[in-house]
Amino acid sequence: MPAEVNTLQSPTSDLPLVGEADVELMERVRSKQAKIAVLGMGHVGLPTALSLAEMGWKVLGADNAIAQVERLRARYVPFYEPGLSELLDKHLGNNFIPVDDLEAAIREATILFICVGTPQRENGEADLSQVESVAHTIALNLNAYKLIVEKSTVPAVTAEWVKRTILRYAKAVPNGNGSAGEIAFDVASNPEFLQEGIAVRNLFYPDRVVCGVESDRAKAILQEIYRPLNAPVLITGLSTAEIIKHAANSFLAMKISFVNMVADLCEVVGADVTQVAAGLGMDARISPGFLKAGIGFGGYCFPKDLRAFIHLAEEFGLNFSLLREVEAINQQRVEVFLKKVRKALWVLRGKTLAVFGLAFKPGTDDTREAPSMKIIERLLAEGASLRLHDPRAIPILKQSLPEKEGSIKYCEDPYEAAKQAHAVLLLTEWPEYRALDLTQLRSMMEVPVVVDGRNIFDPAQMREAGFEYISVGR
Ligand code: UGA
Repeated sequence: MPAEVNTLQSPTSDLPLVGEADVELMERVRSKQAKIAVLGMGHVGLPTALSLAEMGWKVLGADNAIAQVERLRARYVPFYEPGLSELLDKHLGNNFIPVDDLEAAIREATILFICVGTPQRENGEADLSQVESVAHTIALNLNAYKLIVEKSTVPAVTAEWVKRTILRYAKAVPNGNGSAGEIAFDVASNPEFLQEGIAVRNLFYPDRVVCGVESDRAKAILQEIYRPLNAPVLITGLSTAEIIKHAANSFLAMKISFVNMVADLCEVVGADVTQVAAGLGMDARISPGFLKAGIGFGGYCFPKDLRAFIHLAEEFGLNFSLLREVEAINQQRVEVFLKKVRKALWVLRGKTLAVFGLAFKPGTDDTREAPSMKIIERLLAEGASLRLHDPRAIPILKQSLPEKEGSIKYCEDPYEAAKQAHAVLLLTEWPEYRALDLTQLRSMMEVPVVVDGRNIFDPAQMREAGFEYISVGR
């Protein structure tokens, strides 16, 4: 790993690192004597905390939810993320200490990463009550200089509100050196770009690190933290960093909706969307990522962040109708998929359907806003009987969608799920499905129909294996 971080842009700064306090602070940071507290131990906070521990920092992983902290203390990662259990195992008790006392963690640490949830309200707006509450707690426990880093996905101007909240409840000065009786602090925005399922890889090999700062001190500390990574560090202002995060997610969502519409067009003219996407992606200006047609994007981030971005624009009197269309196209994907199923099977009532894949993408057990959930709901409403399989998501999903005689059955393996099925519906592109023995699969089924929502099989090979095979945009 190179020692130098590539800084692409300098912030406007009114605070050169000259004061004695800053010199002493930077010494503690460089020697890693300064501790880090990660506030919020969810899908963002836990991987962030463990990657910092791996980089040699002493990290307090703080969460108000005692049960969550207890699980971590017992070496149990509460959600599936490849590589995370190994990191927890390695650092628990030395570089990584889970704590349920947020206040103590704030007082003990110098650098605070805010990783609490920002769920959405009914109108699409982000609910920032957890961020506000943490900012308030930080203010009440500001016992010495802190760098407060916002990592949760938040609308632009949240960092400004964090700053104002701290100023309101603490005797403190932002961006400057505290004079008698006052404590200095900095607020920074350092959005995460982790993808569930490959979060650990993203953490150590990011495409870029974005740091929104207002002072040289905050910039210096963040650069020190990210120095070991072989990644460009883009230094910006606070709201620019916040907008980069939202714009990145919205742009990627836009690519997916775009390619899904192209897929519909390919179907009617007899073209192949996977080849069209390959041809598009070869243009360096477009890039090949996020051009896989399918059943639409899901998960906790894209749908929520897209709505929050639309809402933010609206708040400032702008109509981001382009993104509304991205959302509308995405919502239609479930219906487009169901039409394919109906076209293949005619009536769904009384049919047995094997569903392969429940998580919103491979590599995770997360089913939040997964297109599979909407598809399952519709199939059940139409009277189909479902045999569900997923390599990871079943234990969690079972709690909200229990087995039901005659309509919902969870299966240990895909072959069992395919037993006497009138069709296999493939909803998540887990690698194990690509490796299935097609002859065995076909022999289990009542009718050899496969509706592939993720284009994982080769159409010619499927036909050769005796399947009626329907996919997306081919
Ligand atoms: C997304 C972003 O990719 C991350 O950079 C970001 O940090 C994260 O949201 C977040 O804001 O926390 P994630 O939601 O984990 O990450 O998953 P993605 O890999 O982006 O996939 C999102 C959805 O798009 C999935 O349902 C996936 O199946 C779908 N997708 C993705 C497609 O339909 N086609 C594609 O070509 C790519």
